[in-house]
Amino acid sequence: MPNSRILGIGRCVPDNVVTNDDMTRWMDTSDEWIQQRTGIRERRFVDRDCGATDLGVVAAREALGRAGVAAEELDLILFATLSPDIEMPSCACLLQEKLGVAGMLAFDIRNQCSGFLYGLSVADNFIRSGTARRVLLVGGEIHSSGIDLSTRGREVAVIFGDGAAAVVLGPSEVEGRGILSTHLHAEGKFAEKLWLEGPDTRHRPRLTEAMLDADIPTVFPRMEGRYVFRHAVTRFPEVIREALDANHLTLEDLSLLIPHQANLRISQMVASSLDLPDSKVFNNIDRYGNTTACSIPLALYEALDAGRVKDGDLLCLAAFGAGFTWASALLRW
Ligand code: ACO
Repeated sequence: MPNSRILGIGRCVPDNVVTNDDMTRWMDTSDEWIQQRTGIRERRFVDRDCGATDLGVVAAREALGRAGVAAEELDLILFATLSPDIEMPSCACLLQEKLGVAGMLAFDIRNQCSGFLYGLSVADNFIRSGTARRVLLVGGEIHSSGIDLSTRGREVAVIFGDGAAAVVLGPSEVEGRGILSTHLHAEGKFAEKLWLEGPDTRHRPRLTEAMLDADIPTVFPRMEGRYVFRHAVTRFPEVIREALDANHLTLEDLSLLIPHQANLRISQMVASSLDLPDSKVFNNIDRYGNTTACSIPLALYEALDAGRVKDGDLLCLAAFGAGFTWASALLRW
């Protein structure tokens, strides 16, 4: 069974740059607080009505073009997001229509910051089993229309940004190249530590004025930041080591770690606990904030553009996020 490899990559981030100083127009915060705690300097917010698939289709077209694959050749379309354009049908179906194709299967992956790696694992398994030859995987988010931009929501609001990035995958022709393995985990008992509760089907009607007016509205994401942080700095190193161990490789063999861009302090703690020098870790959260399902492919895109990834390099992609979920993938480029 051939494993899969990334044939092409694309991205689409909104032009509208929102700096930390811009955030102070809406809430009581400061550039100093945000940079010190998160390493974020700016993020992109769409400045018009726009869904995750509107960014996703641009990213997808670039990835298809770079891969030399026509949309008609796709066997599977996956869309990883926590901020779908609409509740149903899936973003993958909406994207399929925007790409002007039909017939191939299409579905969403709703696994937050680990969504891209869950999607990568699904794509790899479809390709390994021979069920699909060409897979499009998009990670796309519009956070800006769903966060509380008042002081009440500042802990969460300063972290997130909008964006989309996409990869096209196919079977690897060279043995030992491409995705070597993927490792996925979840622990639902921590769901309430980072969640977006409403509108929810447990209440009739699903959305009421009272829900919107509540002191702590359930219609915005809520997070116990410190709790999430503590788990992230444990799970990241664990799942990175798991990927290396599974392939009988060590940290010395690793060329580059691309962690999900949750918080620069998390990435730095993970790197230091693994004894990895800065040259072996790629971060771009300073310019985009946390773009959840988009963050890993967006970072991979920029690492490639910056010449940080060479043929034959060993890459580790790793994520941790709401669920809790966490995941890693090891790739020989
Ligand atoms: N600006 C200014 N002050 C703020 C802000 C803000 N944006 N947000 C919170 N504060 C205040 C708090 O009110 C608190 O004030 P108090 O001491 O008077 O009560 C003070 O700053 C400290 O707040 P903490 O929450 O203790 O700050 P902390 O050092 O924990 O940093 C942060 C918060 C940045 C959110 C951090 O906990 C974190 O990064 N956690 C992990 C986030 C993450 O990775 N999430 C996972 C990915 S998201 C996903 O999966 C969907």
